[in-house]
Amino acid sequence: MKKIIIANWKMSPSSLKEAESIFAKVRSKAAKLRGVETVIAPPFIYLPLLKSRGRIKLAAQDVAQNDDGPWTGEISAKMLKGVGATYAIIGHSERRELGESDDIIREKLYQSLSRGIKSILCVGEKEKSQEAFPHIVREQIKKALKGTPRYFASKIIIAYEPVWAISSHSKGRADTPQNFFEMSIFIRRTVLDVWGKSAALRLPIIYGGSVNTKNAKGFLEIKGGAGILVGKASLDAKEFNKILEIANSI
Ligand code: 13P
Repeated sequence: MKKIIIANWKMSPSSLKEAESIFAKVRSKAAKLRGVETVIAPPFIYLPLLKSRGRIKLAAQDVAQNDDGPWTGEISAKMLKGVGATYAIIGHSERRELGESDDIIREKLYQSLSRGIKSILCVGEKEKSQEAFPHIVREQIKKALKGTPRYFASKIIIAYEPVWAISSHSKGRADTPQNFFEMSIFIRRTVLDVWGKSAALRLPIIYGGSVNTKNAKGFLEIKGGAGILVGKASLDAKEFNKILEIANSI
């Protein structure tokens, strides 16, 4: 199975020129690696402009909760599909921080899946000290999947991203591969309860939060882990390309 390596550029870089430059460097590396599914999630406005995609797949960082209608500032899954988004990130903690509720996330997930977009559902607890954090993650998953038809199961990836481990919160301190391993079992168990065994067994589960060239291997070697979601380090083409190489060698 190819490892899924997703670059979440968030609200960077600040110019198209820089975006094209990072993209071109990553594209030429990705072209040589057969064991990796390389995905870049740039800001919306760069999506249709990053041409000659080669082996790179594009992801949107969000989708609208409605498919059409007068919603100022929103961008629908249909539009995103039309400009080449194969994937979409749904329910990122930075969106949740801006007020996105579980209900909105469920609707966004549904829109994205209905348009045939592979959807990366992000879940994760806010504080490391939260004792009940598996329960929090379980609730996030159950609420997002509530009412989502089981036939969409093969289009979903779950990203476990503990908020406290995201570089902007943690000063670069990631979670441990061991905890990711335990959480991946727990997440699979939750999906088993919702959708049954075959969906749970096939579900790709990835880790996000301060991944860099030093710790990527540990997360990628986890049995049952399917890849990583990389923020800050993905904006440095050299560093991200190194991560791709590490993934390719596993
Ligand atoms: P960092 O890799 O910067 O911690 O970001 C993780 C993230 O939020 C990816 O979606």
